[in-house]
Amino acid sequence: MVCEVALEKLIFQIPKEDLYAITQARGVTDSEFEALYRALVGESNQEIAKAFDISEIAVRKRLGEVYRKFEILGRSPGKLGELKQLLIQEYESHKQTSTDGHDWGEAPSISEFYGRTEELATLKQWILDDDCRLFAVLGMGGIGKTTLVRHLAEQIKDRFEFILWRSLANLPSLDYLLSELLTKLEPSQSVPTDETTKLDALINALKQHRYLIILDETEAILKEKDRYGRYRDDYQNYGNFFKEIGQTQHQSKLILTSQEPPLDLIRLENSTTTVHSLNLTGLELDAATQILQQQNCTAKPKDCQELLEMYRGNPLYLKLVAVMIQDIFQGDVSQFAKLGTIVIPENELITDLYDRLSLIEQKILNCLANQKELLSISQIKDCLPDISISEIIESMDSLKKRSLLEQTEKSKTTCFGLQPVIKKYIKRHHQNS
Ligand SMILES: Nc1ncnc2c1ncn2[C@@H]1O[C@H](COP(=O)(O)OP(=O)(O)OP(=O)(O)O)[C@@H](O)[C@H]1O
Ligand SMILES: [Mg+2]
Repeated sequence: MVCEVALEKLIFQIPKEDLYAITQARGVTDSEFEALYRALVGESNQEIAKAFDISEIAVRKRLGEVYRKFEILGRSPGKLGELKQLLIQEYESHKQTSTDGHDWGEAPSISEFYGRTEELATLKQWILDDDCRLFAVLGMGGIGKTTLVRHLAEQIKDRFEFILWRSLANLPSLDYLLSELLTKLEPSQSVPTDETTKLDALINALKQHRYLIILDETEAILKEKDRYGRYRDDYQNYGNFFKEIGQTQHQSKLILTSQEPPLDLIRLENSTTTVHSLNLTGLELDAATQILQQQNCTAKPKDCQELLEMYRGNPLYLKLVAVMIQDIFQGDVSQFAKLGTIVIPENELITDLYDRLSLIEQKILNCLANQKELLSISQIKDCLPDISISEIIESMDSLKKRSLLEQTEKSKTTCFGLQPVIKKYIKRHHQNS
């Protein structure tokens, strides 16, 4: 633990533009950043409110958003100190980027990592196989995609000449991304001016060298309010980029992480053996127990199992719930488990997932949330008489690709339902829609 005075000193050594870049990578908006910057230099909420001519509640909200984006949880008054520590850590790891020879960009720094042995083995096998080129790690928000790929990259980094990690959360145009990749990967070459020549130059570099490129948060360039995998307007050219990387012969690798697969990825995976995707599901009991212990919670195996099932092993939800259990029950999981209820650790997380969906997908979720039993497609159709069966099937497929549906066989019929936390969220927020 760094003492308060040392922390103050270190935080002042980070240039404002670097702080800005670190917070941008976490999705912090400009107005949140300005409030944060003033808080970091010691202004009170009242002073910040005055400077921006907003209420103190609005200041607290902006700072609250920043804490959420940095996953600083709970209600303790020491949150600003915790954030300073994190900012310093991230700044140091960015600086380290240039010293270990790779460019980790917005990659999180290495932290506790539990379980995932099989997933790591599968990914390593694919990636170290010379014939495979494009990989996607898919799964719902918080399931651990970024963390898994960060650990994987650390383990295989010696097999590559250079690793380049970028997040697509800030929606870089393909043209911008290609320039960025070429500048880092081929610093001695001048970057061509047009996009097609840039892509050719990149493919050429991927043939000459053994590079590992990681594009995190790929869902950002995919459309909201539509079925899965469609590109946002002005981002369709990413489809061609993925195709070129997946189909052309070269010796480099591209890993994407995404909450939903881009359409081209599914097509490529079905038509070639050089593209693979891994759907990440929840952690197993041992790993989930370690997460609870890491948050200073004590639990009997049966209580851990209960929590694991409630949150389907989602490490982010487990962490958030553990913080709440720490706050309310002094870390005693059995007191919480005994109550037999499920809490939604942060509404915003599920709101973000829900808001991305098409209207029909939302209607299907609302219908499933209101049922005790799992439903067959024809029962869902009965619940939504105005929607055609083909639209229902297409939307169910889309929801599955987003990892939002659970399914089981009942009397030779496939039936669908929702995981408990999503069900509860919808019942609470969309009961009548
Ligand atoms: N295997 C693991 N062991 C310990 N902690 C983990 C593990 N996987 C994920 N976590 C923790 O869970 C949280 C969510 O993980 P992560 O950010 O990797 O999820 P994600 O799938 O990338 O989410 P998003 O789709 O929102 O980007 C992080 O705080 C991370 O440290
Ligand atoms: Mg992620």
